[in-house]
Amino acid sequence: MNQKTTVISKEALREQQEICQKIREYWNARGITPVAFVDTYGCQQNEADSERIRGMLEDAGYGLTNTEEGADVIVINTCAIREHAEQRVFGNVGALVHTKRRHPGQKIFVCGCMMGQPEIAGKMKNSYHHVDGLFSTHHLWEFPSLLYKALMTNKRVFATEDSAGSIVEGIPVSRSNGLKAWVSVMYGCNNFCSYCIVPYVRGRERSRMPEDVIAECRELIEAGYKEITLLGQNVNSYGKDLEIGVDFSDLLAQIAEIPGDYLIRFMTSHPRDASKKLFDTMAKYPTIAKQLHLPFQSGNDRILKEMNRHYDSAKYLELVRQAREAMPDLVLTSDVIVGFPGETEEEFEDTIKMIETVGYDALFTFIYSPRPGTPAAKMPDPTTKQEKNRRFDRLCDTQNRISSERHRAYVGKSYRVLVDGKDGDQLTSRTEGGRLVRFAGSDELIGQFCTVRITESTTWSLIGALE
Ligand code: 5AD
Ligand code: SF4
Repeated sequence: MNQKTTVISKEALREQQEICQKIREYWNARGITPVAFVDTYGCQQNEADSERIRGMLEDAGYGLTNTEEGADVIVINTCAIREHAEQRVFGNVGALVHTKRRHPGQKIFVCGCMMGQPEIAGKMKNSYHHVDGLFSTHHLWEFPSLLYKALMTNKRVFATEDSAGSIVEGIPVSRSNGLKAWVSVMYGCNNFCSYCIVPYVRGRERSRMPEDVIAECRELIEAGYKEITLLGQNVNSYGKDLEIGVDFSDLLAQIAEIPGDYLIRFMTSHPRDASKKLFDTMAKYPTIAKQLHLPFQSGNDRILKEMNRHYDSAKYLELVRQAREAMPDLVLTSDVIVGFPGETEEEFEDTIKMIETVGYDALFTFIYSPRPGTPAAKMPDPTTKQEKNRRFDRLCDTQNRISSERHRAYVGKSYRVLVDGKDGDQLTSRTEGGRLVRFAGSDELIGQFCTVRITESTTWSLIGALE
């Protein structure tokens, strides 16, 4: 694998902007206002990438639509983290054959993490002939030239070669929401957890320069955004590659000092690099949400070692203690995998113990999915699918009970919430800790902070009344 990060030059990006202009002229000459449909699978990083794809499409004169039917270009941004996501992508891309038949000029692109796996990209190239172009995350910035080539030559275009990844400033972003924004602080991952495909498909860790991140946050806050989520596969290793003595806590503090009424969140924190400095920084600034997503993955030390996680359950619990000491109202969420190869019943019980001990507000639970090319995929895995499903159900039941208990403790108290939309005749909002609160109120409150008193709770959400 080529280990060098490429910083894409301003000139190279300007060239792409010029190509966008040429695409506009192409459509103008035909008297057509083209429309594009971008479909996203997977995590927030992919959502953020899709916002950049939409930004480039808008630059090229495309309007955005939310259906593949009749779209002039379709971009499917894929996820490779579990087999299930990949199967859905293959199924849905396959079905586009019919959509394209009804709209023959349609150009179909598939991009994202699946295109970082040579065998998967090969399968897409060889068996899905109605797909016009493929590109991996490293080549996202070149999308205008790929699209232009496909339009001009009617040939298929591919940009999926391996690389350690690029870093690009200045791609236009079309944000789907005027209230909440994603801001990537870094790309890639160096951790190589033994089950995970991400380091192979998103390349090595590379941090954006602090001044670029801070400037983007400042612009968003000045434009009226109320919530910014800083993104990275492992934000706590931010800055290591820059070697300028700025770590994630320093970056967070500088952003939190921007004047305005807003909240900053971030994800994901790897326990390996989470520190007291981070918790103290979170505690210090009212603009930083007291919410931490700290994946533990397993409560068993042997499994953690096999997962290559670089911490044990004692270290993890000590981090939780420190975090709660700094922020008594902290909302804590996590990711956990059941059925890792060779996980015994007793080892699984350690995971149950961990969630009982910590008492998470919410948990993202996954059944282990073998990813070809990762070390865990070669480990013996004698546990049956039924047994893994049983463990998964037990885990979910336990967490649901804990979530309900924690939610019940909200009842009777008042919280500041950010109103983000409507569901039926109720407004939807989020507490600082990210808990969903529904309440009755006027539409004018959407986009504003207000205070609600919690009157009822369920496993997944809270019900309140405006104060
Ligand atoms: N199987 C199941 N879950 C996985 N995750 C990552 N890789 C796998 C896999 N192969 C989970 C981890 C990670 C989250 C984003 O997805 O819990 O934190
Ligand atoms: Fe995957 Fe581990 Fe990196 Fe997270 S930290 S993206 S789980 S390799």
